[in-house]
Amino acid sequence: MSESDPAKHQAAWTAAALVESGMVVGLGSGTTASLTIRLLGDRRLAEGLEFVGVPTSGATEELARSLAIPLRELDEVAFLDLNLDGADEVDSQFRMIKGRGGALLREKIVVSTARRKVTIITAEKRVERLGATMPLPIEVSLFGLKHTQAKLAQLGASTSIRTQSDGRLYLTDGGNGIIDCRFAESDDPEGLDLRLRQVAGVLDTGFFFGLCDLLVVGHTDRVELFE
Ligand code: 5RP
Repeated sequence: MSESDPAKHQAAWTAAALVESGMVVGLGSGTTASLTIRLLGDRRLAEGLEFVGVPTSGATEELARSLAIPLRELDEVAFLDLNLDGADEVDSQFRMIKGRGGALLREKIVVSTARRKVTIITAEKRVERLGATMPLPIEVSLFGLKHTQAKLAQLGASTSIRTQSDGRLYLTDGGNGIIDCRFAESDDPEGLDLRLRQVAGVLDTGFFFGLCDLLVVGHTDRVELFE
């Protein structure tokens, strides 16, 4: 889905309105986060909104720079007032899967430093069970990639090493790989996450638990807020 989706626009507009002058704001990655960042760029120009952004990916950094949004490295700030990011799936307990865009590790590090954690989605991303619509992205070390893949398969996943459209290996901003893993439906994502983290070579999983305290859900004609 593109940035021009009206439901995405509704959600992004509501999220961008949460930023106040003086805030340090985590800037997520993906099309929904990008749309939100563009709207923040508009607010800077139209209203003189003054805030500092902390980007979660190289692509987001580039976009924010093109809009003249002042940026800081994460380690230059003590905490974030607000984090604004999208997600791929969200369940009723605000548990999420992220990482289709490949920025999961940095996104998780950034959001975990935020006082208010806002997730911006469109309605179809709300699911009953995580993994319903997409595989779980897992960020892995390139060293021993095939062995890590085999161990993930032993845990019951059907696995696919992520590649780019030209067939070359997909690399994250941190220079790691991603293995997309499809598991049988499970009611215990926390247990699965623990087992996955014990696999040598796994750097992080796309499960995000306890990292959303306001969910902004866009529909074509309205926005719902859940907290
Ligand atoms: C990137 C992410 C994105 O937030 C997620 O993939 C949602 O992206 P989009 O807003 O384009 O649907 O986790 O790593």
